[in-house]
Formats: sequence, C-alpha cells, structure tokens
Amino acid sequence: KDIRQQIEDAQIDSADQLEQFRMAYISRKSVIAELFEGMKTIPAEDRRAMGAELNTLKNLAENKFKEKQAWIEEQSLSAQQAAPVDLTLPVYPNELGSVHPLTLVRNRIIEIFGRMGFAVADGPEIEDDWHNFAALNFAENHPAREMQDTFFIRKTDNPADDLLLRTHTSGVQVRLMEKQKPPIRAIMPGRVYRNEAISARAHCFFHQVEGLYIDTNVSFRDLKNTLYYFVKEMFGNDVKVRFRASYFPFTEPSAEMDISCLICKGDGCQMCKHTGWVEILGSGMVDPNVLTNCGIDAEKYTGFAFGMGIERITNLLYQVRDLRLFSENDIRFLRQFGGIS
Ligand code: PHE
Repeated sequence: KDIRQQIEDAQIDSADQLEQFRMAYISRKSVIAELFEGMKTIPAEDRRAMGAELNTLKNLAENKFKEKQAWIEEQSLSAQQAAPVDLTLPVYPNELGSVHPLTLVRNRIIEIFGRMGFAVADGPEIEDDWHNFAALNFAENHPAREMQDTFFIRKTDNPADDLLLRTHTSGVQVRLMEKQKPPIRAIMPGRVYRNEAISARAHCFFHQVEGLYIDTNVSFRDLKNTLYYFVKEMFGNDVKVRFRASYFPFTEPSAEMDISCLICKGDGCQMCKHTGWVEILGSGMVDPNVLTNCGIDAEKYTGFAFGMGIERITNLLYQVRDLRLFSENDIRFLRQFGGIS
C-alpha cells in the first residue's frame, strides 16, 4: 500500500527525476523487483494474492513512467523550437590552411614589380634547347648544356632537338620577345630544375622570378633603380645593397646584387658565410645577340634583365635555414606562416 502511494505521489518533472523513478520502481534492482524476489519465501497460499498485488504495482509504475517519459520528450522538443539557432554564437572552429611561404613571397614580389608596371608572364616547364640555351647566347659547349647540370627529357647529337626541364625561367623572356614588340616590361615567376644533390642549401628544383624590361633608351641606371626599389620594398629601408660585376651569357655587362645580411645584421653568420652580405640576384643589360635572336632591333632597343630565387628571399625574410623544409609538407613548419598575407 505504501509503495502504491509512493508511486502515485512521485514527482517527475525532469529527465533526472524520470531516471530516479525508473531505478526505484522499474529496474531490476527496484523495490518491486525485490518484492517479486521475496515471493519465493512466503507460504504458497499467499503467493497468488501477493503476485496479483505486485503486478498491479508494476503496471502502475510502468504506465506512469511511459506517460511521464512522453511528456518530458514533448517538453524538450518544444523548448528546442522556442529557442532557434543563435546566429551570434562563434562559428565552429574550422582548421584553415595557410598560404605556402614561397607563394606568400612570390605574391609580394609580383605586387612590388606590379607597382612599377611589370606584368606577369608564364611559360612551359619543359623547354627546348632554343628557349633555354641557344637563343640566350649560351655557347655550344657551355657546361649547363651537360647532363650533370640539367635534366634532359630528350638528349640527342643535335642540341636543337633536345628537350629538358628548364633550368631558369629565361625561356619565358625569349618567348615574350619573340611574340611581343617593345616596350616589354614583365616578370616571370616559376619553378626551375637543376641536377643538384639535395641538401639544406641546394635542391633539384626551386623557384625563380626573372624580369625583363626592353624599350628605347633603357640603361643600367634603370636596372639599378628598379632593383633598389624592389629591395627596399621587400626588406625595408635599412638594408644595404651592393653590385658585383659578374658574367651571364645573355647579359652584358652583368652584375650580381648582394644585400646586407638581415639575420646577423652584418656581423657574420651561416647565412652570409660570415661576410655580412648575401647574394640575392643576377642581372645585366640584355646582350644585343639575344635581342637579335628574338627578332628585336638591337640598334633601336636596349633592355635589362634580372633573376632571383624565391627560396633565397624567403629564407632571408623568415630565417629559414633549410631549403628542404619548403617541399616536405611538414605542418609544423607551414603552420607558422598562417595569418601572414
Ligand atoms: N637566368 C639566370 C639564372 O638562372 C638569372 C639571370 C636572369 C641573370 C637575368 C641575369 C639576368 O641564374
């Protein structure tokens, strides 16, 4: 009788209370289950009445449970409908990728030269001998034309038939000069390949941005001013610049440009091999032979060209000490460039 009263009186307003009710009157450890268990010990003549009584209790508890369960479910459903999605909550944090450091730096280079009116030109990574070497005034026996330096796709006795992975993006300059009349003012970003053993300082592929400006009266002064501007925009006003005379088959005169080492600030470190200076690009006035090879009037026009490695610039800007990091896809490395644009 007491139990019947308890069941009837039980307050069930929440899922917790529902569960407590289930434990107390329905589960296999409930009082009712215990009483069923106890029936074994009572005299046989009382058992029938006791059983009937317990079954009534059991049904009473189960009905109340079902009824309350339905009611609570209904309550929580209408509660959900009453509180629609809160659009002001912060979004679920998606993992965003980050721009690859070489892409970041390439885009900055494109942007800086873009401000000086340089367009972006593109060309194939598989080149023929003409565009990679011959048009650029490379001697027939130049070492770059050997298998040790260049990845050949087809190597024959006749260089004109050779196919190779481009060793620089200068081939794009040739293509541009062949199809466009001066003035020409463009940069050529792209991947290039060289037969080098892979180490912290060298790789069998890397990325370049080369540039070309051809017009009437283009002088070495224009070359210097253009590159000075680039360096200051890229590395800041404090960086020092120097030119060293150099040699390239396709430019005359030629110069390599160094900047003061950003990492040791001139005091000497691994990056600058303790000299305080780091070479960042090659440049020069386009050799008249190259202009003629590409169908441009070398009497009328002059031009300058330059080429730099994006990896080198990136290493200096972000103090990266191992070239291999750029192509190993190690998320711990790449993640550090998140948020930079
Ligand atoms: N093509 C040269 C290289 O790959 C770079 C360069 C370009 C030098 C233009 C001078 C002028 O090293």
